[in-house]
Amino acid sequence: MQEELKAIQEEALATLEQINDMKELQALKVAYLGKKGSLTQVLRGMGKLSPEERPVVGEIVNQVREAITKAIDEKSDLLEKAALEEKLKEESIDVTLPGRPVKVGGPHLLTKVIEEIEDLFIGMGYEVREGPEVETDYFNFEALNLPKNHPARDMQDSFYITNELLLRTHTSPVQARTMREYKGEKGFKMICPGKVYRRDTDDATHSHQFTQIEGLYVDKDVKMSDLKGVLNIFAKKMFGEDRNIRLRPSFFPFTEPSVEMDISCKVCHGEGCSVCKGTGWIEILGAGMVHPNVLEMGGYDPKVYSGFAFGMGPERIAMLKYGVSDIRQFYLNDNRFLKQFHQA
Ligand code: PHE
Repeated sequence: MQEELKAIQEEALATLEQINDMKELQALKVAYLGKKGSLTQVLRGMGKLSPEERPVVGEIVNQVREAITKAIDEKSDLLEKAALEEKLKEESIDVTLPGRPVKVGGPHLLTKVIEEIEDLFIGMGYEVREGPEVETDYFNFEALNLPKNHPARDMQDSFYITNELLLRTHTSPVQARTMREYKGEKGFKMICPGKVYRRDTDDATHSHQFTQIEGLYVDKDVKMSDLKGVLNIFAKKMFGEDRNIRLRPSFFPFTEPSVEMDISCKVCHGEGCSVCKGTGWIEILGAGMVHPNVLEMGGYDPKVYSGFAFGMGPERIAMLKYGVSDIRQFYLNDNRFLKQFHQA
């Protein structure tokens, strides 16, 4: 029996030498030390031994078990170390390789122009407001002095959702909403940037969805000269100190009188050239003194309060300022176009 045990030990250690991976090692452990392993088989045979022999053989079995266990553990450590080294080698980084450049994005040109306009008006004491893009017929039209069947509704072909709900055709409903919030109790100045929608066929100068910035100043004693002053500051800050403005009579149902503002052409400064189609001026925005009906529907007494309002299209401003020739560029998400303005 002692011979047998020695043979098992030798065989086990010899096999161990050949082993190169954890799976085989595990199999070997089971083969020798497991429940059905060779060493356990020998132990089973101990019952046949005499009482004197038993402790002697028991001692040897223990020694063999220890020797095999120790050898297995050592091999296991070795294999683990080797595996780790292999992994480190595989995952090692060549720090001398040039890095891959990280592509940095930037705000959309339209976002930048809107923020620039916001900053300008915030500097003049205006608060920035928002309103819903799905608007009621009441706020989009009626509260702006455009009753149902008013012909001027045709100026803004609309996307209706129900009879009473539509995608707002302009940011002017926020005029009515803001007046309501202030309950006719005090003056205020606000601008409201946002998306608007019209049933237009998209081309270089039309888009079924675009943005507007509305402006409204209501207080006691607001005059047309105040409007002209503010628009003049806006034009000079936005386009350059050398630009002039002019106001032309126009019509909007919610302002009276209504005007259209032009700025002098940056190429010919008013002389007339191909850029301004010979007129010397470029149209920028619509504005006017808030119509008494609109003030009244907003809860303001038109005998005490007056106001001016203006509305402009940031796309148009951006097109003029940065020489963009097609409004669709703002919505195509063509990175070749967009990235030109990341540093601008
Ligand atoms: N809402 C008008 C438009 O969409 C612009 C405007 C706003 C005109 C405020 C006058 C006053 O064309």
